[in-house]
Amino acid sequence: LRVAVLYGGRSAEHEVSLRSAANVLAALDPAKYDVVPVFVGREGRWLLAKDDGGDIEAPETGAELCLLAGGRGRAVALSSDGSASPLPKIDVVFPVLHGLPGEDGAVQGLCEVAMVPLAGCGILGSATALDKDVAKRLLREAGIPVARSVTIRAEAPPRFAELEAALGLPIFLKPARQGSSVGVRKVEASQEYAGALEEGFRHDRKLLAEEFVAGREIELAVLENPDGSLTVSRPGEIVPAQSHGFYSYEAKYLDATGALLIVPADLPEEVEARLKDLAARAFRAVGCDGMARVDFFVTAEMQMLVNELNTIPGFTDISMYSKVMAASGVPYAEVIDRLIAHGLA
Ligand code: DAL
Ligand code: MG
Repeated sequence: LRVAVLYGGRSAEHEVSLRSAANVLAALDPAKYDVVPVFVGREGRWLLAKDDGGDIEAPETGAELCLLAGGRGRAVALSSDGSASPLPKIDVVFPVLHGLPGEDGAVQGLCEVAMVPLAGCGILGSATALDKDVAKRLLREAGIPVARSVTIRAEAPPRFAELEAALGLPIFLKPARQGSSVGVRKVEASQEYAGALEEGFRHDRKLLAEEFVAGREIELAVLENPDGSLTVSRPGEIVPAQSHGFYSYEAKYLDATGALLIVPADLPEEVEARLKDLAARAFRAVGCDGMARVDFFVTAEMQMLVNELNTIPGFTDISMYSKVMAASGVPYAEVIDRLIAHGLA
């Protein structure tokens, strides 16, 4: 079975994708899969890389690809000069791209048009989950608790006093379509507002101002089986180091001691059961299929709020998605096998 693994990408989470992809490439059993790594550069060039255990970031020998096209399950790559390229027939595309474009339905649509099976979440759920504003509206509509928020557009940002009145302090300002906490600022006073807006608008024209929820960060993995049933993992907890203030990009990736992952999270049985139910409902509410990690805040009173869904979550073997799945009886390599089986079903 030939699997094209797409990684890198144009988003601010390029580096994160490289880490995820290195693990996916290492876990794809060569006895079962013929792996075709496709590196997407920061500037958007697609390069055919080699899966030889070398440097996945600089496939200097790679041929340039510009389009996956085809039909009836056949992927054909056209190189940018129009000549036929060396991309062999692909049975399934496995995107390991975080953020835009890649986790947002764009690559998923490309596969759909080319009639190439895709591992992971499809067009609709990818698009809605990646937009925190749209996702929250769908979650609210389904009766799933979320933190209060105000959507901010670049044309007309509200005055700080309005946000303070609506949400209290501090406020979190987030780009609507970003991941890994890139561009997120905690705003504690009015003099920090302009700088936070500027930082947010560097990443998106739409931002979300959210109330601060004093709670634990709890995450669950959802994996859809080929028959459509859902495997929902046990919960895991993230404990960011005090020094980071919140679970920032630095805490996530740059500081080895930035956060602690506790798997499974220490929670009462009935809370765990409720979280699993909410995770499955959230997955369906935003239109996901395949997979997603559902992130919660759980308060001291055991109120459970969905923070967001990630349809291509951090995917190293020590990432939360893999850890909670492993703790629920599905080891990393099997998660990958199941995602591929789901894509081919
Ligand atoms: N956006 C990052 C990769 C995550 O959610 O894990
Ligand atoms: Mg995210």
